[in-house]
Amino acid sequence: MILAIETSCDDTCAAVVTRAGQIASNVISSQGIHDRFGGVVPEIASRHHLELIGDAVDDALGRAGVGLPDVELVAVTRGPGLVAALLVGLATAKALAASYELPLAPVDHLHGHVAASFLEPQALEPPFVALVASGGHTFLARVLDRGPGYEVLGQTLDDAAGEAFDKGARLLGLGYPGGAALERLAREGDPEAFAFPTAARLTGLDFSFAGLKTALLYRVRDLGEVETERRRADLAASYQRAIVEALAARAERALTATGLNRLAVGGGVAANGPLRDRLSQLGVELAVPDRELCTDNAAMIASAARYVEQLPYPDYLELDVYATGERAPVPA
Ligand code: KG4
Ligand code: ZN
Repeated sequence: MILAIETSCDDTCAAVVTRAGQIASNVISSQGIHDRFGGVVPEIASRHHLELIGDAVDDALGRAGVGLPDVELVAVTRGPGLVAALLVGLATAKALAASYELPLAPVDHLHGHVAASFLEPQALEPPFVALVASGGHTFLARVLDRGPGYEVLGQTLDDAAGEAFDKGARLLGLGYPGGAALERLAREGDPEAFAFPTAARLTGLDFSFAGLKTALLYRVRDLGEVETERRRADLAASYQRAIVEALAARAERALTATGLNRLAVGGGVAANGPLRDRLSQLGVELAVPDRELCTDNAAMIASAARYVEQLPYPDYLELDVYATGERAPVPA
């Protein structure tokens, strides 16, 4: 049994997963307290992790019907993410592992998103192209095996796709995080009503969403309050279409460039219906894990931990976290 902890952002997560990738429990405690600020406040997130992590771990063990003595390996997200939030998870993992002199596996959060595809009962065998699009990250990778050595083919140069959804939702007066609400509003709108940029000038596999958000901002200003209100659904539908097109066009390019015919999608944005529809038209095998495995969770961290180096007790006690934008220090 692997006990995994994930606290890189605002969800306090713990899970128990077998070495074969069967999920025994997957606890996600969403803080839901950042909505009023229109974004995650790192200090508040980390304080809440502290309050929630003990119960999340107990809950994960309880639901799996196991105790700490049954655990063989503790896995934890080491980065990238919010430093103060990651520290709570890492300190908890170290303490739990050390108390039973267990090995510890430090996991890269992005490897976790890719490794969500290796969980049963729908484990996907490499090789495939992975598209991960969440509130914090957006990238395409060529995945040839289950380890952390996947090749990043392209990534966002500015905002993440989920961030673009959230910023658009905010401009349209929807709450935070606004991706799902924007999708709902867009159902009543015309995706062709407005032409928003899809960063088509970027010919490679990188993404850029900052220009799109600015385009919506200007459009809303030009329309004025009354007209914006009247055309909110059209704006949402057109804006969503631009994000979906940007993601789908690059996923298609990545498939062509690698010659692979399988696409795994992850991250919170994978919940988006029009994105799934669009990707399913690419004519390749499409794998989208269950929603709770797409958004941040600890089961994916346990999954990744199976394929990274495990540190024996007490070698991991000195381990530190790394922030968003930083690479894992070598050796991990
Ligand atoms: O993976 P996730 O839960 O957390 C991060 O690692 O960021 O992703 C959250 C992101 C948010 O930006 C949210 O607006 C977006 O996923 N999201 C959606 C939908 N559901 C969640 N975006 C578009 N359509 C959705 N249905
Ligand atoms: Zn994530």
